[in-house]
Parts: sequence; C-alpha cells; structure tokens
Amino acid sequence: MCGIVAYVGPKDAAPILLEGLQRLEYRGYDSAGIAVANRGIKVRKTKGRVADLAATVPARFKGTTGIGHTRWATHGEPSDINAHPHLDAAERIAVVHNGIIENADDLRHRLEADGVTFVSETDTEVIAHLIARAVKETDTLEEAVRMALKGVVGTYGLAVIDAERPDQVVVARNGSPIVLGLGEKEMFAASDVAALVRYTRQVVHLEDGELAVLRADGFQTLTMDARVTSKEPLTVDWDAGHYDTGGYEHYLLKEISEQPETVARTLRGRIDDRFHVAHLGGLNLTPHETRAFRRVKIIGCGSAYYSGQIGAQMIEELARIPADAEPASEFRYRNPVVEHDTLYVAVSQSGETYDTLAAVQELKRKGGRVLGIVNTVGSAIARECDGGIYLHAGPEVSVASTKAFTSTAVAFALLALHFGRVHDLSPADGRRICEGLRRLPDQIEEILKQGPQIADLARRYVGHSSIMFVGRVRGYPVAREGAQKLKEISYIHAEAYPASELKHGPLALIGPEMPTVAIVPDDELLDKNLTTLGEIKARGGQVLMVGHRTPDPKLAEDVIVVPKNETELDPILLTIPLQLFAYHAAVALGRDVDKPRNLAKSVTVE
Ligand code: F6R
Repeated sequence: MCGIVAYVGPKDAAPILLEGLQRLEYRGYDSAGIAVANRGIKVRKTKGRVADLAATVPARFKGTTGIGHTRWATHGEPSDINAHPHLDAAERIAVVHNGIIENADDLRHRLEADGVTFVSETDTEVIAHLIARAVKETDTLEEAVRMALKGVVGTYGLAVIDAERPDQVVVARNGSPIVLGLGEKEMFAASDVAALVRYTRQVVHLEDGELAVLRADGFQTLTMDARVTSKEPLTVDWDAGHYDTGGYEHYLLKEISEQPETVARTLRGRIDDRFHVAHLGGLNLTPHETRAFRRVKIIGCGSAYYSGQIGAQMIEELARIPADAEPASEFRYRNPVVEHDTLYVAVSQSGETYDTLAAVQELKRKGGRVLGIVNTVGSAIARECDGGIYLHAGPEVSVASTKAFTSTAVAFALLALHFGRVHDLSPADGRRICEGLRRLPDQIEEILKQGPQIADLARRYVGHSSIMFVGRVRGYPVAREGAQKLKEISYIHAEAYPASELKHGPLALIGPEMPTVAIVPDDELLDKNLTTLGEIKARGGQVLMVGHRTPDPKLAEDVIVVPKNETELDPILLTIPLQLFAYHAAVALGRDVDKPRNLAKSVTVE
C-alpha cells in the first residue's frame, strides 16, 4: 500500500525523504509528497510519481526534520490535494498516514460542526486536525498524538511533525507497519526497511498500539496508555544493492532470474542427507507435537494463497495429513472453527498483508497454533506466529510475486518432508524428495535459458484478449498462478480452471479466439489431460502446453518443455515458464511491468 518515510538529524531531510520514497514507490504510486519543519511547515506534494514530486522540490526546500509519503488511494481520488502530507488549518501539524480510518466521516462531521474547514477528501486529514487540537492541551507532541488517536477507529501507520517542535518526529502504528532506523546522530522511520537500508541496517519494529518519538540522538517507544517500552534493535541482512535492478530492464525479470540462487537459499542448511529429513528448527514443534496434528490449514492472499494450494497438495501426498488452503481474506470473516489438532500455516512474502495478519490474530485469539512462511524477517506476521520458516529469498520489489512464490512452494516441500518423515514417509521416499529438492536450482537455470523462446511465444499470444489456463490436481494451482501473473501485469484477461471442470461450463468459451495454456505434467493424470487437450482442439481452441514432453501436434500447437523432477515437486518448476510468459507478454504490450495499474506491493489495508 502507501509508503511512509521520516527523518530527523543534522542533514537536509528532503533528499533523504525523496530517496526513501523512490525505494517505497512499489508500495503505492498514484501521488507523493514531503513536508519539513523549518520555521513553519513546508510542503510539496503532487499527483503522480516520486520523480514528478522531485521535480517540484526547489533547492531552497531546507529543513532537517521531515516526513514523506507515496500514496495508493483509498479515500479520495488521486490528486494534488488528496496527496499526503496533510496539514491542520493553522499549518502547524503535518501528517502522513497508511491505513484506513473507519470513523473518519463521523470525526469529520464533528470537526466541521466545530468550525474546522477541510481541504481534502481523505480520512487522514482528520488526524491532522485532531492532533492540532490536542497539541494545545498538552506539553508533548507524543501526548497530543496519543490523545488524538484515542478517538480514532481503524488502522494506521503514521508520522507527524510539529512546526513548534522541529527537532522531533512522532510515529504510531496500528495495523500498518512502522520500522525505525537507527543512524549515527540521526533517526529514520519508514513503513518498510527498503527505505532505510541505504542509511542504516539497525532497525526496530513498532508493535500495534505503539508510538515512538524520534530525535537526532535517539528514540523512545511507548504504548497508547503512555507506558514506556523497551526495544532491541535488529540487524537487517538486506542492503541497498538488493533493491537495485542489477542491470536488468525490470525488477520482475531480475527476480525471476534470481530464482536458482533464491531457491538454494531457501534450502540451505535444511536438508539432512543422513536421515532424509528437513531441519526446520524455527517451527518450534517437537516430533510429538508434530504427530499430534490431524489437519493442516493454510491461509494467504493472492499468489501466497496459490502457493499454499501447492503446499496443501504436497503435505497430503507426502505426509498423508488432510490439508487445504483458503484465502486469508475469506477465512478471517467467516468465524472459522479453530481446532486444537489443526496446524495453521500463514503465508506472506511481505509479512504485512492486513487480511493475513488479521486472520493470524483471530486464530491466536482462539488458541490456534500458527506457523508462518514469510520472507520479511521481523515483519508483523512473522512476529505474530508461534514459529515458522523464513524464505531468505531477499527483498521482492516488483509488485508481482515470483521468487517469493517459488521459495514458498519450496518451503512447503520442506514442511511436507518434515511432516512426512515424522509420519509414514519411508526413508527411501525421503531420500527421493531430498535429492529432488537439491536438483531444483539447476533445473530452474535450464528453464531460464528458454527465455528467448518463451518471449517469442508470449508475443504471439498477446493479440488475444482472454486466455484460459487449465491444470489437474497438482497442475491446478500452477494454472491459477499462471493466470494471476498474466492478468496482473499484462492486463490480458486470464481464467484458471481445473481441467476436469472445463466441460461443466467454461468449455463454452473455447474457440479460435480464446487460447488455452494447459499444465500437463508427466504424472498419473497425463492421459486425462491429453484427453482434455483433444476436447479443446475439437472446439477450434489453440493450445500452449507446459509439461515434460512434446505432445502430438494435433493436441497442442505450442509447447514449453520443463525438466522433470519428482512428481510431488514438479509444480515448483512448472510455474517458472509461466512467470516468463507473463513478463514477456507485459513487455510486448508496453505495460508498466513492475508497477501494474491499481495494485500495490503489500496490501496493508482491508
Ligand atoms: C501477486 C501478488 C499478490 C500477493 C498478495 C499477498 O503477484 O503479489 O497476490 O501474493 O497480495 O502478499 P503477501 O505475500 O505479501 O502477503
């Protein structure tokens, strides 16, 4: 969603804020703004990208304390006026905010009844007016922020400056991330470490319901009822280089290309060749506890959910424990039955997706045992879970998930192996899976070498306005992820169906105008899948088959052949060419590949 950055120290804030916003632009990119405190509040904000904002900031825009924001609109259309920061009427207080204030209308009406005039349509502006009132009644800015937030219902990550206290920034968190960055005689804050790593790798994560006051010489954190809290700084592994395109045209292509290495990192130190088991110390589960679970329930959103479907399949196959995946966004709203012998697994690249976080909190509240499969170390979901597996895939900047998706599927394979070997998976099968996992990085490398041919194929398909994706059982989540990638970055309509369901309805769509991408692995369902291809061909449909062999040309005019692994692990490899297909389709159509319209990297609002 939106990105926040804040600075207080000896340097000019504006260049630091603009650099931070550039790093956060992948989180939201319809408008941007900065404010500094220096004999009053100075603001520059505009609809458009951070580069548009930078062009409006004059050299004389001086001030060593400031806040910045890049926006993904929720309340009010993208416009100069609705861009953050927002100010109170006297232009004393400036606020940037991520999240949604649910009682904004109510608060606005009350403030208007008291004579306050609003200039924007945003929910954030109410916070600026509330703090401006409170600041007159108390001695400190943090106290004023606390007082103002008491009346606010909703989610926020926010940063506030006060013209009368130009030596400090106050930040607060409730449901939307805030990370403090600790520098030498300077302090930073942001909604994501991406904005901080150029300046410091020492960070402190705020918890929900916490505030912090930042001054050049340090920070203090406190709860909403003014209790001072103590925080241990963490060192982040990622440095600024991880956030560069590394010579690639787009982050997305860089992230797809990194997968041999990122998968190797997910596996590193986790495969035991002696007992053919997975070492997953972070699960915090004894073998006894592991055996006691009768069911596994996986939750996540979007691609994280699809990777969970792959994971559920692996767990059922290797451990013979019933497992299924569900969108976290649905799960949290349906008052789920939480059972003591079910293990819950939350999947999230960012570790900040609000729906997933809220689902985890609901599970915990009901006494559920929750593991996290998360990429971002120290993120809210990682902290909320009882244990889990970090992906170690490095930061994912492009809005569409690729390397995190693949690493999540690999983490599920490890989890399935772990559960399997505690249950009835034989040492021989354990060994087979361990060896299969070790082959993955080289096999991904082989698929990546087909990039130019996949690009040619993608260019031939972009003339279609709609593409069907089908797969059976293991192939179905692969088809869903392939369709998701294509639609989100190329804007070509793509639908995924279980191949077995085609004739129960969607076959009516098939004809020369709607091609099908069919996931056809060499598994026990091969013949059934080939029959489906025949049915599509009989309706005049064009077929691109993704599988392990070249089919009879009567069944598919195009094919992408991927290396075969163990049947249970094949979905991991089958997804990679679909990422490349979507990428090249989007490039061919001239799309903004890394920042597709209407989307943002981490969805920290409901
Ligand atoms: C699609 C995509 C999204 C995310 C989803 C969950 O390419 O990136 O569907 O997978 O928003 O995000 P995380 O994994 O950060 O919880």
